[in-house]
Amino acid sequence: MNKREFLGTTAAAGLSLILGERVWARFAALPVERLAEDEAFWAAIRAKYRLKPDYINLESGYYSMQATPVLEAFIAKVREVNYQASYYLRTTQVPDKAAARDKLAALAGCSPAELCITRNTTESITTVVSGFDWQRGDEAVMAEQDYGHMLAQFRLTARRHGIVNKLVSVPVDPKSDDEIVQLYAGAITPRTRLLMVSHMINVTGQIMPVRKIADMAHARGVDVLVDGAHAFAQFVYTVPELGCDYYAASLHKWLGCPLGTGILYVRRDKIAGLWPIYGDHRMNDDTDIMKLNHTGTHPVHTDLAIAHAIAFHETIGGQRKEARLRYLQNYWTNKVRPLANVVLNTPTDPARSCAIANVGVKGVAPDALAKTLLEKYGIWTNAVDNDAAGVHGVRVTPHVFIVPRELDVLVRAIREIARA
Ligand SMILES: Cc1ncc(COP(=O)(O)O)c(C=O)c1O
Repeated sequence: MNKREFLGTTAAAGLSLILGERVWARFAALPVERLAEDEAFWAAIRAKYRLKPDYINLESGYYSMQATPVLEAFIAKVREVNYQASYYLRTTQVPDKAAARDKLAALAGCSPAELCITRNTTESITTVVSGFDWQRGDEAVMAEQDYGHMLAQFRLTARRHGIVNKLVSVPVDPKSDDEIVQLYAGAITPRTRLLMVSHMINVTGQIMPVRKIADMAHARGVDVLVDGAHAFAQFVYTVPELGCDYYAASLHKWLGCPLGTGILYVRRDKIAGLWPIYGDHRMNDDTDIMKLNHTGTHPVHTDLAIAHAIAFHETIGGQRKEARLRYLQNYWTNKVRPLANVVLNTPTDPARSCAIANVGVKGVAPDALAKTLLEKYGIWTNAVDNDAAGVHGVRVTPHVFIVPRELDVLVRAIREIARA
């Protein structure tokens, strides 16, 4: 593809705006995999973030900061909403949120009629689990490696509605998709009604074969809820191609939106079957997903920043971002994986992970490892000490603003700690 063709696309035109047309033209012809290693290009992207010099931020899994252009747009929206006050809320609030929803639906590859904007994955998953028409004795299937609070939501449902939760344990380094699919299949009984699966396991970064699990579950008459908290905008896919019934994600993780933004996808024919948590005038139309989206008065300026975050994400380009994130993860994991006393809690097959990986050192408690990394090496990570999930290590999550020389500091640190 020549420069003219590249600049002809919206995303490429956006990049030329961010980088300057001359700089962008230098990179335009590079294939995604080559661009993933081009430090001059990523230095220009890094310059769009305000990074705290006190530590190397390898914990973008919890919340990834907004790029400066998004943050500035967000702050302007805060001012504007405050300025217009109730006039804004009574006039343009609803159409503005609908416009943001349309853009998100385009990114997710689904119909806007199947998507609503929530505050986070927690709210999206709770909307499904609490809204499900459970009968006493119904069963649900999930994994020990799913996010703790989502599992707690199922335990709460068990207490309230008398459902039975069946938990599988996903191996850290599976040999095949089928091995995982069979695990889930083995937990399904004639009483199973809902299966929850993480698109990416948060403590290990493992990407799950969601489509195959969904097909297997559907063949047994079981609905599928996907926890996509970490997947959305980290790597490229559309929600419908996953074949699930419900999909939940947070936008303040990989899309770089302000805190408190998420999505809930409900396949069109599944909307009627969910009870809303909040009463809403739209609840009489059982097929309107907005019946599930009553929020009361809330910080609407967060919703207004979504379009800016999408624009920034798309100017980098989903494929370029995914390739860079995978490159960064492999850059450091390939160096530490063979070391004595080091345990990688992330699959060896590069297709089964992206930005996130987890590393432990034998004989060093995860908390102590995270503390040493921060205090001695200036590296910010997240300790994971989860017996049920079988994961003991620190989660390492580089974002697009991280550069290899920072990961070299991590590699040196792990090497020294593992040798001590
Ligand atoms: C797999 C998974 N699910 C759900 C959540 C909850 O996300 P939020 O706090 O944005 O609702 C997280 C948070 O890290 C997560 O990792």
